[in-house]
Amino acid sequence: FHIMHITAEMAPVAKVGGLGDVVTGLARSCLGRGHNVEIMLPFYECLPESAVEDLKHERDFECPKGKTWDGVFQSGTLRTQVFTGKIEGCPVILIRPDWNDSNLFRGGRIYGGSYNEAEAYLYFSRACLEYVRQSGRQPDVLHVHEWQAAAVAMLFWDAPAQFSQDMPRTRVMMTIHNFDSSGECKQDEFAATGVSGELYATVDKALDERTIGHNPERLCLLKGGIVYSNAVTTVSPGYANETLNGGAAGWLKSSLAAPAVAAKYKGVLNGIDTSFWDPATDPLIPACFDAQRQEGKALCKRFLQEGLGLTVDPSKPLVAVVSRLVPQKGIHLIEHAVHRTIQQGGQVVVLGTGHADGGLRGLAGGQYRDNPDVQMRFLYSEPLAHQIYAAADMLLVPSMFEPCGLTQMIALRYGTVPVVRSTGGLADTVKDVDNYQGTDPKPNGFVFDGIDAGSLDSALDRAFRYYKETPERWAALRGSIMSDAPRWSWDTAAGSYVDLYQQASQA
Ligand code: ADP
Ligand code: GLC
Repeated sequence: FHIMHITAEMAPVAKVGGLGDVVTGLARSCLGRGHNVEIMLPFYECLPESAVEDLKHERDFECPKGKTWDGVFQSGTLRTQVFTGKIEGCPVILIRPDWNDSNLFRGGRIYGGSYNEAEAYLYFSRACLEYVRQSGRQPDVLHVHEWQAAAVAMLFWDAPAQFSQDMPRTRVMMTIHNFDSSGECKQDEFAATGVSGELYATVDKALDERTIGHNPERLCLLKGGIVYSNAVTTVSPGYANETLNGGAAGWLKSSLAAPAVAAKYKGVLNGIDTSFWDPATDPLIPACFDAQRQEGKALCKRFLQEGLGLTVDPSKPLVAVVSRLVPQKGIHLIEHAVHRTIQQGGQVVVLGTGHADGGLRGLAGGQYRDNPDVQMRFLYSEPLAHQIYAAADMLLVPSMFEPCGLTQMIALRYGTVPVVRSTGGLADTVKDVDNYQGTDPKPNGFVFDGIDAGSLDSALDRAFRYYKETPERWAALRGSIMSDAPRWSWDTAAGSYVDLYQQASQA
């Protein structure tokens, strides 16, 4: 197959969370199976040119892009530069607007720049399609991710723009990594891509619904993508079920239930890149190890304790959190876990960034300021993340909801036992050691249900007891989760995607 991903993130050079990991991991796995894969992403100012191998300025073109001045819509274009190269062995196509005329994708970070994000990604979606057509490519699949690229699915079918006529073999697949942000834009922002609002109006006709969005003044890009894509996936079967039968998709639930959508919507569990996340070869950790030779893990723990200024003590259970610090991740439970772990004689390491970090910063700078068993780092650091996965005894993921979650799979790979809330992909991947229901995978962690501190304690306390009272069972558990970890690789998940690409191309 010729697969072109269209995405706002790609690990490791343009990554905020798991989206970046998934795009790179899936692409590399499909490349390994002999498919032709390309990744299109914005050439953010913060993406260093030095990170791109064989960087070439491939072409410039005028991308349709309108503007509204004083309430009057004016059609126009934005000069667009296209660069090609390779990142992590994957062919990439980087889209950069002319910065003399626009500030889209400028600034020091991927999201949250001083430009309108809906406008930026609508332009990006149109520019990707223009480039694909102009370059003469006829991909089998345009695989678009999240609301940022959802407009591709709509624009592709816009009659005057003729993309679908010019690429008759091409099918569009959309993967929704998180229904929490559905990408709303104003009518005139959508029209600025050069297509009329009529295309959007048909979204509601197709679903026989009146609501075009949560806010009637705005269009919902995710909903447009759901209607116009040939296939739609989300990132775990458990979360797919929660979006169809629970509240996880919010008001988009009724769109998913429409028969035309239900038939093409599926949950496919993510994988992790087990060559990048491999304790046996990881160049970012101080000592390598695997299920058969676990001694290196103790050295990693010692190195982290020394490096962060924790008490150096191999016997204290070290509980880690590596996470975006946003409400989704169960911040109140992370805060509670800090207290509980210290009461129980353990150690806590938190690595994270995000707008909901206030309470944790308060603990780090206040009550636990001089406590040698608590260390928090409010920054993004790939090396530190690797060192923490390698060193910790337990990884806590108490999410309120979790479409898939990669950190628990990475932890399993590094022999770090996950303690998770039973939701979405966490429930699919972590099975409780004490309450094993005999379902695949093998027992591999500690699981709780509720969103209150008592529920968290019920799992965390059991994990501490297991660790302290039966160290030989803990060592066996650590060995077993590491031996079982290849199952989390992209090998399985990429196969499911290839099957879906096949079905979509035959439809
Ligand atoms: P989400 O995509 O919701 O953030 P995932 O569990 O799918 O959650 O993916 C998170 C990814 O981001 C993992 O690769 C994790 O290691 C990484 N990550 C999160 N926060 C940080 C951080 N502060 N520094 C380094 N890596 C981080
Ligand atoms: C989202 C979700 C996370 C998932 C990731 C990759 O960011 O929050 O659960 O693992 O996407 O699909």
